[in-house]
Amino acid sequence: MNVLIIGGGGREHALAWAVTRSPIARRVVCAPGNAGTARLVENVTLRAAHGPGVVAYCRSEDIGLVLIGPEAPLVAGVADHLRAEGVAVFGPGADGARLEGSKVWAKELMLAEGVPTARSATVRSVAEAAKALEWLGGRVAVKADGLAAGKGVVMCESRDEAVAAVGAAVEARVFGDAGRRVLIEEWLEGEEASVTCLVDGEEIRPLAPSQDHKRAHDGDRGPNTGGMGAYAPFPRLDDEAHQAVVDKCVRPVAHGLAKRGVDFRGVLYAGLMLTEEGPRVLEYNVRFGDPEAQVILPLAGSGLLPTLEACARGELAGAPPLEPNEGTALAVVAASAGYPASSDPGRVISGIDPDDDRGRALVFHAGTKRQDDGTVVTAGGRVLAVTGLGVTLAEARNAAYDTLGEIRFEGMFMRNDIGARGLDPAAASKGASR
Ligand code: AMP
Ligand code: GLY
Repeated sequence: MNVLIIGGGGREHALAWAVTRSPIARRVVCAPGNAGTARLVENVTLRAAHGPGVVAYCRSEDIGLVLIGPEAPLVAGVADHLRAEGVAVFGPGADGARLEGSKVWAKELMLAEGVPTARSATVRSVAEAAKALEWLGGRVAVKADGLAAGKGVVMCESRDEAVAAVGAAVEARVFGDAGRRVLIEEWLEGEEASVTCLVDGEEIRPLAPSQDHKRAHDGDRGPNTGGMGAYAPFPRLDDEAHQAVVDKCVRPVAHGLAKRGVDFRGVLYAGLMLTEEGPRVLEYNVRFGDPEAQVILPLAGSGLLPTLEACARGELAGAPPLEPNEGTALAVVAASAGYPASSDPGRVISGIDPDDDRGRALVFHAGTKRQDDGTVVTAGGRVLAVTGLGVTLAEARNAAYDTLGEIRFEGMFMRNDIGARGLDPAAASKGASR
């Protein structure tokens, strides 16, 4: 089978890596890809948001399956175009992607289906916000309704901060139309976890639970980012706790979508806060997380591609169970100077061996570009995600950091504490409350 992967980040490199390990994969192309996917598969230039163009490409190149990595083309309805033309595509249509594309809609669905989540109010003005803050209190998360490139959530310590954050969204429109409506949510305390499932209607196949690290710097300090590192499985969600989260936080939403006539085929990702009162959903994504994909996919086993294909065809219920690999994966992101506010492109990256797959560590590229002279340079905020593999979390962590020790580019920075909470659960209760 020929496979087209849409996207060009670390997640898509990990998807390409996972797909090429399957005996049923013939030709794999990535649009636009990055320097890492260029080495592993074939990069093509395609306007991913333009449905008819993607359909035409699939026809001419005999593409049997399209995997859509990022949220924007999903929210834009690219999967609808492909499906309407008979192209098998992994990823929901625009109706299902609203779960990620509108936080207000997702919250309404959660409430209707009894999913545990933070108390909240939807507001359109500063005056409405002031009223809501009377009963929500001042410590809240202020969330732009629509897609805001991962920047739409502002954590506020006081009423004044919350009013300012709402004003910035609804009046100054710092997030554009995404901030026309804003969700104000009580600030939940606890440890975060991500639960990723392959979903086709009401059929659910969970993948390994994981933990992301959103803040830019060690000890969960600094600004929120797209994610600076992750590991899986996340030991606090043992089999029983993981199943409970799937049953409470994923199944009702899959059911609610199906009931509303949504033909959902793709990833349903629940971002959770594990509070003292139990898990609470912070958000849903309709795609693999990044960098969660870089740890989940290497553990998923070689049956992944046929399972993704079955999901895309609406036949997940008949697919054999996945046989995940034993062990642990831990990914550390190497970021460019200035990230997340900016990045420093064009810096030469050294120490990335052509032989990425060293057994113990996988070097996934994110924001990288290969120049005509063959050198690989930075081309984005998150530059690489190095995934260490091991029997234990400690082994995986050492493998990732050892490999990163050989890699250099000017301005490179990373967190040094990825996985620390998994290694020392006692740190979780101390460190979880910022
Ligand atoms: P989201 O995009 O909704 O996942 O939010 C981004 C990040 O903001 C989350 O990963 C959390 O770290 C934080 N966050 C969002 N909502 C809340 C909340 N209600 N309480 C505490 N932290 C939150
Ligand atoms: N790492 C979180 C996300 O992809 O949304």
